[in-house]
Amino acid sequence: MRFVFLLIAITITTSDGGKIGRLQSVAVSGQLKCDGKPAVGLRVDLMESDNNLEESGIIDDDDFMNYVISDDSGSFSVNGSEIEISGIEPYVNIFHKCDDGMSPCQRVLRINVPKSATVWGDTPTEVFSIGTFELSGKVLGERRSCAYRNLTATSSA
Ligand SMILES: *[C@@H]1O[C@H](CO)[C@@H](O)[C@H](O)[C@H]1NC(C)=O
Ligand SMILES: *[C@@H]1O[C@H](CO)[C@@H](O)[C@H](O)[C@H]1NC(C)=O
Repeated sequence: MRFVFLLIAITITTSDGGKIGRLQSVAVSGQLKCDGKPAVGLRVDLMESDNNLEESGIIDDDDFMNYVISDDSGSFSVNGSEIEISGIEPYVNIFHKCDDGMSPCQRVLRINVPKSATVWGDTPTEVFSIGTFELSGKVLGERRSCAYRNLTATSSA
């Protein structure tokens, strides 16, 4: 039911231009570590920035594109598409507990994807790799989120 509804919505937006713009795609991959060990079971959200204010301070403002959970080696690969007039400004939010003590919420690492890594159309032709990323170190301007606190118990990082 939900799928059918989604399908109709997609058909409308792409056929009558209900959402004006062109379809663009992006793919992001990487390997996450915590204190040198694979960061398993982390949630990675692929997002798209809707405002040009780089630091609006509110994560939920932007469009959610897709998500993935990091695998047994801490690796992830996620891709998505979005219709926008101008070039999309994608980024990933990585939710983790690395070196974060007993707090019920999570650290959020945001990594912006360069515009050069996005393509027109529905199929990403290249994958932007963030490489191997060690999560223990604090990143300037890092945020916190309680959105996926239910994942904390099952993630080893
Ligand atoms: C995009 O994601 C799908 C589903 O996970 C996958 O099958 C496909 O290979 C991915 N494409 C790229 C270019 O990474
Ligand atoms: C955790 O919560 C999110 C958001 O409510 C939900 O999408 C996800 O399926 C939940 N994951 C688990 C493992 O329960």
